[in-house]
Amino acid sequence: MAVGELTLSSRFFASANCSSVIRDSSSLILVCHPRSSPTKIILRHVAMLVPRGNLHKTIAIYPGSFDPPTNGHLDLIERGSKIFDELVVAILRNPDKAPLFNVTERVAMLEALTGHYSNVRVDTFDGLTVDYAAKIGASSLLRGIRALSDYEYELQMALMNRKLRPELETVFMMPAEKYSYLSARLVREVAQLGGSVKGLVPELVEEHLRGKLDPAFKLAEFTSGSREEKSESRKSRARKKA
Ligand code: PNS
Repeated sequence: MAVGELTLSSRFFASANCSSVIRDSSSLILVCHPRSSPTKIILRHVAMLVPRGNLHKTIAIYPGSFDPPTNGHLDLIERGSKIFDELVVAILRNPDKAPLFNVTERVAMLEALTGHYSNVRVDTFDGLTVDYAAKIGASSLLRGIRALSDYEYELQMALMNRKLRPELETVFMMPAEKYSYLSARLVREVAQLGGSVKGLVPELVEEHLRGKLDPAFKLAEFTSGSREEKSESRKSRARKKA
C-alpha cells in the first residue's frame, strides 16, 4: 500500500498486527489488533519510514524571466509537473533589466495559469539560482531546450551551476515541436509591433499584452504603475557606481 512517498509492505501489516491503513492528506491511521501496542508500532516503523519519504521527494526549480509566460513555458511546466514531486516556477527578480511585465504581474499570470497543478507553485528569487535552489531544498533544475541553438548557452549555464553546486542536477526537457521557435523575446517584439501572438501565449497573457501595449494604458503606467521597479533599478545602478 502506498502512503505519500512511502510503500508499506504486507509484512509491515502482519508484523504490526494491523489490518488496514486509512490515509488522508496529512495523517496515517492504523487499524490494529486490540492486543497490539500502537506506541511500539510507531517507534518501530516511523523512524524508518519518515526518512525514506523525504529522500524520495524531488523538488525541482524551473527558473527564468517569464516576460511574458508563453505556451512553451507552460508546456514545460506540464511536463515537469509529471516527473517531479514538486515544481517551483522561479521568476528572477532582475533590477538591471527593464521588463515588459513587472514581477508582480508575472507572478499573478503564472499563478493563474498553473493553479490547477497541485504540485506546482510560483516564487521569485534574486542572486544565484543555485543559492535559491539550496534555500528551498531543490535537487533538480529544469530548463527547456528548443533547438540546437539553445544548447550552447544552456550547457554553459548547466556546467557553471554544477561547478557552483554539484548536487544540483540540471534536467533538460524539450517542449512540443510546435513551440520550438517560440521565445518570450519574440513574443514581446511581435506584440509591440502590432503582430498577432494568438496560439503562442495563453489568452490571459494575450489580454495582458493588449492592455500593456494600449497607448492609454502605457501612459497611465508611465505615471504610476512601474515606478517601484524603476526606482529599484535606479537604486541598483547607484549601488554599482558607489
Ligand atoms: O528565461 P531566461 O532569461 O533564459 O532565464 C535565465 C536564468 C534566470 C535562468 C539565468 O539568467 C539565471 O539563472 N540567473 C540567475 C543568476 C545566476 O545564477 N547566474 C549564473 C547562471 S550560470
